[in-house]
Amino acid sequence: MSTAALSLGDVLRRASEHLGKTSETGRLDAELLLAHTLGRNRIELYTDFDRPLSSQELDAYREAVARRARHEPVAYILGEWGFRRLTLNVDPRALIPRPETEIVVERALAHLVGLDAPAVLDVGTGTGAIALAIADEQPDARVTAIDVSADALALARENVERTGLAIELGRHDAAGGLPGGPYDLVVSNPPYVERAELETLMPDVRDYEPHVALVGDHMPEVVARAAIDALRPGGHLVLEIGDGQALATAAMLGGLGYVDVVTTPDLTGRDRVVEGRRD
Ligand SMILES: C[S@@+](CC[C@H](N)C(=O)[O-])C[C@H]1O[C@@H](n2cnc3c(N)ncnc32)[C@H](O)[C@@H]1O
Repeated sequence: MSTAALSLGDVLRRASEHLGKTSETGRLDAELLLAHTLGRNRIELYTDFDRPLSSQELDAYREAVARRARHEPVAYILGEWGFRRLTLNVDPRALIPRPETEIVVERALAHLVGLDAPAVLDVGTGTGAIALAIADEQPDARVTAIDVSADALALARENVERTGLAIELGRHDAAGGLPGGPYDLVVSNPPYVERAELETLMPDVRDYEPHVALVGDHMPEVVARAAIDALRPGGHLVLEIGDGQALATAAMLGGLGYVDVVTTPDLTGRDRVVEGRRD
């Protein structure tokens, strides 16, 4: 039996094949986990394919790959994840920020252009992703972020420290109305999975991400109703919604009296953001 050390290229190939059985992004997952294990960035792996791995590195990588093969999300294994210009702490206390939520931030920022020190409320902040990205990209914004989950808020607090950005965090249940105001903008990625749909979600999501972040009883409507009282006249509401919910959400906003209701697709062409203006 050969005792030759395995090279970086060898382990990457084997891990990609293995993870490809349970993940649609097996190669990417394998690269991210290896880069993390070796303390390098992904691109650097490509210049070092022949480098042998030490037994400690191999053990650590095997452990990371085994976790991913059990469907644990890569972001939770890495412990951090990129969102807009930020890198945030992520763990099972809160939802992993998604690429479509970056579009929510883009739409939110569009409504802040030309406003002086706008007041912004992020409802259901999780890691703090939306609130922190807005504070980062519109530095004069006065951003408040709320969540019903104490765990999520503790993680968001870590991300406030990590990024050095100034936002106000508070524990609050949106079902009882929104705190403070009037706001120029209310933004939210509320839980929008119906309880009955939970079982149909991928195990990566269903078995690892907090259910309070996924499942909510008509939360987009709860937030939209509450936001009417919290927004100043002319202020905007920007909501992320689930695939297939755009038409009903746009109609719901119209029914509540919002005007200029607009829907924006994500990068795959699915309508995932609905916004409106308080008259
Ligand atoms: C889909 S996650 C969004 C997290 C983060 N904003 C993001 O986009 O990555 C929804 C968040 O809403 C919070 N949440 C659920 N019900 C809530 C409620 N009634 N009031 C306030 N926040 C709530 C959850 O704890 C969770 O952090």
